[in-house]
Amino acid sequence: MATYRPDSNTLLADDSILEYVLETTVYPREHERLRELRLITQQHPKSFMGSSPDQMQFFSVLLKMIGASNTIEVGVFTGYSLLTTALALPAGGKVVAIDASREYYELGRPVIEKAGVAHKVDFREGDGVAELDKILSEDGGARAGTFDFAYADADKLQYAGYHERLLRLVRVGGAIAYDNTLWGGSVAMPRDKPGSSEYDRRVRDSFLEFNAAVAADDRVEACIVPIADGVTLCRRVK
Ligand SMILES: C[S@@+](CC[C@H](N)C(=O)[O-])C[C@H]1O[C@@H](n2cnc3c(N)ncnc32)[C@H](O)[C@@H]1O
Repeated sequence: MATYRPDSNTLLADDSILEYVLETTVYPREHERLRELRLITQQHPKSFMGSSPDQMQFFSVLLKMIGASNTIEVGVFTGYSLLTTALALPAGGKVVAIDASREYYELGRPVIEKAGVAHKVDFREGDGVAELDKILSEDGGARAGTFDFAYADADKLQYAGYHERLLRLVRVGGAIAYDNTLWGGSVAMPRDKPGSSEYDRRVRDSFLEFNAAVAADDRVEACIVPIADGVTLCRRVK
């Protein structure tokens, strides 16, 4: 029996449930180039950073449901979520993709080109907060409120900073998704849980603060979707 864990940082209690989900709805409908990129990414020493295919199938459906055509992504790695997004956007759609490292993106770029969607990608190398600020000041601020969807999956300690900027960039009615907001379930466990590193504890603390702030933020309607490592989905309401 294949091991499915590496394909999703899932919080599901039993591997067989994830296996069922992947085999039933994810892999049979996964785009050939996404599969290729997933297999390339699995060879990378930091493959754990890649977004989960079950979560990305969810995003693909969501993007099409809301009719997204302009999106932003912070945290690209080898590009599995980026390719998912580019494939889900209509012909004239565009995704601004930000990552501090171009090196990871270069691994996935040939596959994105082969998929025929590279023209939809506007890749920007740099720090997430700094690049979002640049977009906000582009064209005299004309890009504010023009994005339909944003996905934040970069520096976990910067999510509050991403939130403030993404709320200005995404239109009212648009969606913002934050990855890893359950942080391995640690947000609901004691801080000194055996086996957790100092970094885990810092990220857990910052997610406790971030999740509480989003829950109380009247500019969004939000929910935590317990898929993969937890995704907070916000709909901008003002
Ligand atoms: C979890 S991975 C992203 C995974 C990606 N969404 C996917 O589908 O595979 C996080 C990425 O964030 C990038 N990153 C880390 N700190 C960053 C920062 N301060 N600004 C921008 N990108 C950052 C890393 O280089 C890494 O590629």
